[in-house]
Amino acid sequence: MVALAGLFLLPAPLWAGDYLNSAHGSNSYGVKRSGMTGYARGNCAHCHEMHASIAGSEPLPPGGPSPYTLFATNFNSGTSLPGSYDVADNFCFYCHSVGASVQPVTNEDYSETFGGASGGVQAIREAFNQTSYHDLADIQTFMTTGDGAAMAPWYSADSNPCNACHNPHLAKRNYEDFLTPLSSAISKPRDHFALWGESETMASDSYEPPYSTYGGNREPDGISPVADSAKTPDYVGFCTDCHNVSNTSIPSTTLGTLREIDWLSIGGEKHGGGARDGTPPNLDARAPYATAIANGNFVLSCLDCHEPHGSPNIMLLRRRVNGSALNATITSINAMGALCRQCHKDDAAAVGGSADQWRYVHHDSSDAPYPGPPVSCSRCHNITYGTPIQGGKPRIYCGLCHFHGSDDSWMNVVDSGLTTYRKTF
Ligand code: HEC
Ligand code: HEC
Ligand code: HEC
Ligand code: HEC
Ligand code: HEC
Ligand code: HEC
Ligand code: HEC
Ligand code: HEC
Repeated sequence: MVALAGLFLLPAPLWAGDYLNSAHGSNSYGVKRSGMTGYARGNCAHCHEMHASIAGSEPLPPGGPSPYTLFATNFNSGTSLPGSYDVADNFCFYCHSVGASVQPVTNEDYSETFGGASGGVQAIREAFNQTSYHDLADIQTFMTTGDGAAMAPWYSADSNPCNACHNPHLAKRNYEDFLTPLSSAISKPRDHFALWGESETMASDSYEPPYSTYGGNREPDGISPVADSAKTPDYVGFCTDCHNVSNTSIPSTTLGTLREIDWLSIGGEKHGGGARDGTPPNLDARAPYATAIANGNFVLSCLDCHEPHGSPNIMLLRRRVNGSALNATITSINAMGALCRQCHKDDAAAVGGSADQWRYVHHDSSDAPYPGPPVSCSRCHNITYGTPIQGGKPRIYCGLCHFHGSDDSWMNVVDSGLTTYRKTF
């Protein structure tokens, strides 16, 4: 148990500035636990308590104090089934849940707050209780006994996995200031005692902010049609603190050991630092990428495609991307066209064919990888598992070739003459 003797005797200036500027420390919208009297809004005591009772009676919830003198157990990895987190599983959920008894806080998902969506979850706990989510117990394992332990010596066995990504004493309301949304809510695990993303922005990469309304305003503010990459925190730098090529064994209950992600190196992924193909570099893309095509290499933000907490799609994939909602829920990596077509041209966008059909980019465009007239169609279109038929040909499942770090070496299964592989993601 981590005790915090003398916690509230710390000299005020040590905490004053940064904490008072944080969302929790704010005296106008910060923490205020119901049932706590005598403590101003924003006071540490709304989260920490030195004894189970304050002034003779115990404010809700009962029990405690817990490690770090918190009013409830910081994180309970043993009790919940994945994807069905209860309030009592995580200290933060006492407030960050719909209808929370202590102090309900409303938050929407990234697609809604910055991407123009509507109709999604209304609090953080609800975000985690969806089809896919950042599994908090896996993060706890990664941070305490996995590669994260060396990255973040400050993290203890009593820590909260939310705090691998947030510092509750510093986090600000990023969503609130729509003109310059850079009051950061996040801290890198490797740099926990500072905020990340107020001066570190996507402007340091060749980043094109996607639409929040297709053809209109841009992310993240959603109110200006002018692309300004300096308004988006550097989420690549943030996510790759954990998802990189050095952390080789990130455990995942749902997916097994995660793939390494090589985002920013020149030889890395095409959605990252790797250049796209063709001379001049060609892309069968939709706006804004189609018109903002000046150089050979866009670098995307991880949050252009992913949610940070949870999603109704698999693998945290966003429900709205580049200015409109996906036309289908993605339940399998073998049917991820609903995501790709938000930015790339499917046959409908390219040649007036069917939505989510992909003949044009693979067979007919000027830099198609498998141009026609090809040999026997069945050499490739011979998939026997499942029968999704589109365009008269059995679909070749996308997930065989398109995933982080992939190339088209799978083609060797059907075409043993293939000697050089293309990067396909
Ligand atoms: C006692 C209630 C309470 C607890 C417990 C609590 N929060 Fe908060 N949190 C708030 C309030 C209130 C705000 C400000 C809400 C607003 O923006 O109006 C806030 C804001 C935040 C923000 C800034 C973004 C935003 O919505 O304003 C982050 C990030 C955050 N909390 C993370 C956490 C994490 C992580 C934990 C657990 C370690 C936690 N909170 C525990 C009440 C709480
Ligand atoms: C929103 C709830 C919340 C508020 C408000 C809050 N804390 Fe914390 N504090 C936490 C949590 C959660 C932890 C455990 C950190 C972890 O999970 O590793 C913590 C940990 C700490 C620690 C241990 C070192 C560290 O930073 O991890 C100290 C010291 C501390 N708090 C002091 C304070 C003081 C002083 C205040 C008021 C100025 C304050 N806290 C306000 C939630 C809060
Ligand atoms: C893997 C990293 C990660 C973990 C784990 C994580 N978050 Fe976040 N969180 C983020 C990112 C990235 C954002 C998006 C930044 C933003 O909204 O400005 C975010 C945003 C938030 C926000 C602000 C949402 C808004 O309205 O803009 C709150 C509140 C929050 N997180 C609370 C939590 C709580 C509570 C937990 C644990 C139950 C948690 N987070 C776990 C990365 C994480
Ligand atoms: C503190 C380290 C850490 C950070 C930072 C982090 N992740 Fe993760 N991530 C993990 C761990 C551990 C897992 C395995 C648990 C799981 O699969 O949910 C994971 C899993 C995932 C998954 C697979 C989820 C699933 O099971 O379907 C995706 C997608 C993902 N992360 C994206 C991101 C993005 C995007 C960011 C940046 C916003 C990010 N991660 C930041 C540690 C991290
Ligand atoms: C948010 C927009 C966005 C989404 C969603 C998206 N892409 Fe891309 N994609 C791009 C951009 C922009 C580039 C160009 C990158 C560059 O310039 O290096 C690109 C490049 C590519 C390339 C390299 C093309 C070439 O000519 O070398 C492939 C392959 C690719 N994407 C496949 C996919 C697949 C498969 C999906 C769906 C799973 C997908 N993309 C989803 C925006 C997106
Ligand atoms: C070298 C491998 C290869 C050969 C040979 C090949 N295809 Fe394809 N084809 C693909 C790939 C990869 C895709 C993209 C995945 C998909 O859409 O099924 C594709 C997509 C298609 C699609 C769109 C399917 C959809 O619903 O998205 C049609 C139609 C198609 N091919 C027709 C043909 C025809 C007709 C032939 C023979 C004249 C042929 N292909 C030969 C690899 C091949
Ligand atoms: C057999 C491997 C294979 C399969 C299966 C496959 N693709 Fe591709 N795909 C490729 C290759 C190779 C490229 C070209 C990469 C390049 O330009 O270097 C490509 C390119 C793309 C692009 C980017 C086109 C551009 O330049 O703008 C998209 C989008 C795409 N595929 C979507 C899909 C979808 C959706 C599916 C499933 C229906 C699918 N692919 C199935 C191999 C495949
Ligand atoms: C163009 C959209 C796009 C972008 C940008 C993107 N991803 Fe993904 N990501 C996907 C798709 C599609 C999948 C599912 C296919 C797969 O397994 O890779 C995925 C899967 C993942 C997974 C689970 C992979 C596994 O091991 O099974 C992780 C972790 C992840 N992404 C992290 C990230 C991080 C970190 C970034 C930024 C550095 C990022 N993604 C950027 C589309 C994207």
